[in-house]
Amino acid sequence: MTPEINGNVEGSFQLIGGNFTNAGEASTQLKMKLFEFGVDDAIIRRAAIATFEAEMNVIIYAAAGQLHYYITPENIKIRVEDMGPGIEDIEQAMQEGYSTAPEWVREMGWGAGMGLPNMKRNSDEFMIESVVGEGTTVHMTINLNE
Ligand SMILES: Nc1ncnc2c1ncn2[C@@H]1O[C@H](COP(=O)(O)OP(=O)(O)OP(=O)(O)O)[C@@H](O)[C@H]1O
Ligand SMILES: [Mg+2]
Repeated sequence: MTPEINGNVEGSFQLIGGNFTNAGEASTQLKMKLFEFGVDDAIIRRAAIATFEAEMNVIIYAAAGQLHYYITPENIKIRVEDMGPGIEDIEQAMQEGYSTAPEWVREMGWGAGMGLPNMKRNSDEFMIESVVGEGTTVHMTINLNE
């Protein structure tokens, strides 16, 4: 139990494809919120990594999207949905090292193919759904208690 959280807290951020200038803004805001609530450092770090990777994927691959978070005394639920090309083969996309990032994205240091595996690793529950030509939604839950 994290006593500082009285009741449930939720919010959302809009994400715009190609907007590298504000990249990381949503995950930074969520991180600050969790810090204010006195959430354990290690849990904040996991939430920050998972949301940052999800946010970056929207910025890199999609036209637009939204990051929504819902914090309760038990857990943090994060949903990142986008309007974008979707993912044809999710199993392949989940593999470490698999990336379709174009050269200009790789030049910025992205495209190691580690984003989705890192989201899964840092979440207690991870689910991804995608419709080709429509978009992708990632659902992540991070528990606040042991
Ligand atoms: N939101 C998305 N929309 C469309 N395709 C996506 C999306 N997220 C991931 N993908 C596809 O899945 C692949 C793997 O994603 P992942 O985040 O694991 O690696 P990456 O973004 O290529 O590299 P890294 O995250 O390490 O910078 C991407 O290269 C892309 O083809
Ligand atoms: Mg990625």
